[in-house]
Amino acid sequence: MTPFQFNTTKSLVFETGAAAHLAGVAGAVLGKTCLLVTDPGLRALGLADAAIASLQDAGHEVVIFDQVEADPSRETLMTAVEAGRSAGATGVVGFGGGSSLDVAKLVALLLGSGEDLDDAWGVAQAKGPRLPLVLVPTTAGTGSEVTPVSIITVGAEEKRGVSSPVILPDIAILDADLTVGLPPHITAATGVDAMVHAIEAYASKSANNNPLSKMLAREALRLLGANIETAVFEGQNKDARGAMLLGSMLAGQAFANSPVAAVHALAYPIGGTFHIPHGLSNALVLPHVLRFNAPEASATYAEIAADAFPHLADVDGSQARCAGFIDALADLSAKLGMQTRLRDVEIPKDAIAKMASDAMLQTRLLVNNPRDVSETDAFNIYTAAW
Ligand SMILES: [Fe+2]
Repeated sequence: MTPFQFNTTKSLVFETGAAAHLAGVAGAVLGKTCLLVTDPGLRALGLADAAIASLQDAGHEVVIFDQVEADPSRETLMTAVEAGRSAGATGVVGFGGGSSLDVAKLVALLLGSGEDLDDAWGVAQAKGPRLPLVLVPTTAGTGSEVTPVSIITVGAEEKRGVSSPVILPDIAILDADLTVGLPPHITAATGVDAMVHAIEAYASKSANNNPLSKMLAREALRLLGANIETAVFEGQNKDARGAMLLGSMLAGQAFANSPVAAVHALAYPIGGTFHIPHGLSNALVLPHVLRFNAPEASATYAEIAADAFPHLADVDGSQARCAGFIDALADLSAKLGMQTRLRDVEIPKDAIAKMASDAMLQTRLLVNNPRDVSETDAFNIYTAAW
């Protein structure tokens, strides 16, 4: 068996209602003064109120930074760091979607270590130590609570990442109460993103693809496939919401250690240039990338097809089962009410050449793809998706 490494969050709390007694779950880790990092929408909804009250009632001072935007900028990150520094924060809580969690990770790093952000970009450059860090996701998709990665927008549209086990949190809290109010279109897009994490992790050509990631990816697909429609159409169903949170976390553990590939590489130019949400960007190219990969990966996709879509267990032959898997994924996006073509999100056809050349810059992802992708291939995949 080939050698591999596997890193994940050391403590996971899966409990409906856990955020409402955050002090009991995480107060001892966070210390006296907690910086809570969230976004203005969640703050206005009052979603974090019970968690904040729990900490305050237990004698913690809580400083709130609620200015995280989608695709968070370096300026936002540095403002949050300053808020934490002037308050003398002893611990950081990230509360929200992937953007808030990504900012919280780097706030904890920069406050704890004093290192310069420009020395931390890239893989294994961040040294730490960081401040105590607790992450509470309010969407089921990014898996950011168990990934060692934070993505920040620098300048107009350049995305830079810090990837280091140092920014894995001390505790991740999965509380289905926080996701029941998520609108259907966000539930759909983030849920498909989680499925893509599982699919790409399972099929990743990464030298660190490993038996744990594969096992986690399959269980993630089983949970996500069985519950995504219920979560979208019956948002108040806490069993389905809990299963989606668990599935997205398992997919996060899988791809944190067996990284994603061409679906994400081709999704980034869609999000970066046209500001299409990450999950929808992935869904738009997903069936087309898998069809392109099929000549190299049909046996691999066939292995996981029935995890996501149990009816495919009856289909004989890996090519037929792989084809059924890709069709079922395409059907799923439509069934969930998502836009399915690039033209539906008003991307002009003449933008495809630039998107294909931008996708080629995602070399760190493309190296993991089961089939080599040239710029012409990317152009053809986008054209099929248009
Ligand atoms: Fe993703």
